Amino acid sequence: MVKAGLEDVVAASSTICDVNGKEGRLIYQGYDIHDLAQQSTFEEVVYLLWFGRLPTKVEQEAISNELRANRRLPDEVLKIMRLFPKTANPMEVLRTVVSLLSMWDLDAADDGREANIRKATRLTAQFPTIVASWDNIRNGRQAVTPREDLNLAANFLYMLQGTMPDELSATSLDIALILHADHELNASTFAARVAAATLTDIHSAVVAAIGTLKGPLHGGANQEVIKMLIKIGEPANVEPYIKRMFEEHKKVMGFGHRVYKTEDPRAWHLRKMSQELGVQCGETKWYEMSRKVEELVFQDKGLYANVDFYSASVYYMLGIPIDLFTPIFAMSRISGWAAHILEQYANNRLIRPRAEYMGPANLSYVSLDNR
Ligand code: CMC
Repeated sequence: MVKAGLEDVVAASSTICDVNGKEGRLIYQGYDIHDLAQQSTFEEVVYLLWFGRLPTKVEQEAISNELRANRRLPDEVLKIMRLFPKTANPMEVLRTVVSLLSMWDLDAADDGREANIRKATRLTAQFPTIVASWDNIRNGRQAVTPREDLNLAANFLYMLQGTMPDELSATSLDIALILHADHELNASTFAARVAAATLTDIHSAVVAAIGTLKGPLHGGANQEVIKMLIKIGEPANVEPYIKRMFEEHKKVMGFGHRVYKTEDPRAWHLRKMSQELGVQCGETKWYEMSRKVEELVFQDKGLYANVDFYSASVYYMLGIPIDLFTPIFAMSRISGWAAHILEQYANNRLIRPRAEYMGPANLSYVSLDNR
């Protein structure tokens, strides 16, 4: 029996990430996501995902330095980006620029583990530069040079907004990056592993993952959430709006999950951030509307908010343009994709499942003239 959408099918062994859907627990390499969100940094989580343990002080410094030193894009790539239509979707831009970067990568011809770690480091360092540079280019501004004295989250906000972010904004984004870093065999990571299993290069596997993350049932959901909240407008409009969605049998973006049958542990942190940022901005309506939507969807459908629901209001209050929400997901998930690609290469077998044939059989070929 084929399981639609491969639901509950175990398709790989991995030590990277465990999602316990019954208990609502998420573990990276043995560490609970709550501990990591409260005590770690995105840079440390990158090390944890790639090397399977927390770094020592020296290792932590080394990976942070590498991630700071590799932020710049080749001039040729920036030149090509200036030729893109200004209407290009930022996920298309990210997908295309990663393809371009493979042609300028110093280790392009080397597929060994050390070279692949260097490539993964460069991609993780460059993703925020690609996203922020694109926003500057499409708005007719100069692409801002990355700063090496800031961590990845703060530098991204600096490149995007041209000013130093306040502490709550920088910390909120850093935590959001930790929360999105990996999630076992989600659709984009699976796509990356399928590509890597053919022994294609890491850039090609990441391109497959970016294209997959873009879909509204996956990373694209966070953009749809904020569009819905903007349409709702005010807390008083939530109930009639959501009831109408139910009547029209529409899905409410940011709810439901293939694996979690209880609260997504990442939503807890994002909900808290959404409230804190609302208080700091002096505009709590996005949080209030989100709470009301959450209550109604749970009452009517028994569905919980997933990672995309509260990240929408968090990014909006950070002043991030809506179509950059999914690229921010990618800025974090590149760490998980790379971890899975490295794990796939280390113990590889081509991923090649079968399809159950349901089509007709034994038809006699009819020549074109007789059809
Ligand atoms: N709103 C209303 N009803 C829903 C929703 C929702 N968000 N999600 C699931 N349902 C209903 C669905 O209509 C179906 O009902 P019925 O059995 O009566 O037809 C039932 O719940 C099962 O849904 P499904 O779509 O078959 O479940 P799935 O496991 O295939 O899909 C999902 C999981 C996340 C794609 C789905 O819940 C969904 O489309 N959610 C909205 C999009 C979203 O928020 N995506 C982000 C996912 S989490 C982070 C990420 O991966 O990026």
